Amino acid sequence: MTPAPPTTTPPSLTGRFRRDPLLWVATGIAKLWWPVWGTVTRLPDQTGVDDGVLTVRIVDRERVALDENVVALTFASADGGPLPRWHAGSHVDLLLPSGRVRQYSLCGDPADQSSYRIAVRRIPDGGGGSLEVHEALAVGDTLEIKGPRNAFPLVLPGVTDGRDPAARHLRFVAGGIGITPILPMLAHAQRLGFDWSMIYTGRSRESIPFLHELARYGDRVTIRTDDEQGLPDAADLIGPLDGERPVALYCCGPVPMIDLLRTHLDGRTDVELHYERFSPPPVVGGSEFTVTLARTGVTTTVDAEETLLAALRRCNPGVPYSCQQGFCGTCRIRVLDGDPEHRDTLLTEAERADGEILTCVSRCAGDHLTVDL
Ligand code: FES
Repeated sequence: MTPAPPTTTPPSLTGRFRRDPLLWVATGIAKLWWPVWGTVTRLPDQTGVDDGVLTVRIVDRERVALDENVVALTFASADGGPLPRWHAGSHVDLLLPSGRVRQYSLCGDPADQSSYRIAVRRIPDGGGGSLEVHEALAVGDTLEIKGPRNAFPLVLPGVTDGRDPAARHLRFVAGGIGITPILPMLAHAQRLGFDWSMIYTGRSRESIPFLHELARYGDRVTIRTDDEQGLPDAADLIGPLDGERPVALYCCGPVPMIDLLRTHLDGRTDVELHYERFSPPPVVGGSEFTVTLARTGVTTTVDAEETLLAALRRCNPGVPYSCQQGFCGTCRIRVLDGDPEHRDTLLTEAERADGEILTCVSRCAGDHLTVDL
């Protein structure tokens, strides 16, 4: 893309000449110089970047758990250029060939702009996204991604304010595939000399990925598996507290693990909890209603404890969704009739007034909705 060249000389301010003599000379010089200048100042070509969508190529594929149910994919930009920067805790949206959109945390090195890495556990009874990644994506394939975005940032005290990083302990808690956003956090904390420790839990050693990469951190990392030691309690997850130094705790894992920590730490001022779920939160305070899909005329009931999205997927399994937590916008549809109860923080007032709703979290304030599906 090249800026437009100068064109017409302005009129003389005195009215003596049809064109201002000084500006006439300056415009002449600019016209001669412009072809050279326009070439050397050419703006970056944005081809391949469309509305935040990047085309990437799969350059590596590796099984990273002993049970072979977790695959790590490494992407490079399809045009060979650098990828957008990211920070620990970021994720990308994968736009899968089937049309499904799924979010995966980046688990490579944020300093490496030549590649992104994600890891995906096979979930046979899930929504089909993980099976597609496992069975349909191979080295050499191209696909589209969006992002990176960061909904789980690592906030490091002392890095910007000059305080001693050791004044705070960082505690990382990962459950199974929840290790993915935590891996770059560990590397970052280690590089900056933080005092940190981690507990990594899962069903068995065979099921938890990246054991080989964690070995370099020695006894900072505790591996605890359900088959050997039983389910961990809150004290196991939080680790020893000395009561003097505050702890910043970063957790990514299944909903029961996060709920256990939230309940246990409620009201505590010495432990600051940051967490990211990899499955949808439970519906709280919902009541039953019905929904009609206008294009087919099908009506179904949304139970008090299920999401509108889940009910819609019973009638139309192809309904798009991704995060299931109300922040990506993939499940957005339009309400044609009824009174929505918005529970997201993404939609603007104008979008809500226009009838839009995020079906993964929002519900109905009355007893019936009709949606444009
Ligand atoms: S699926 Fe992400 S906002 Fe609903």
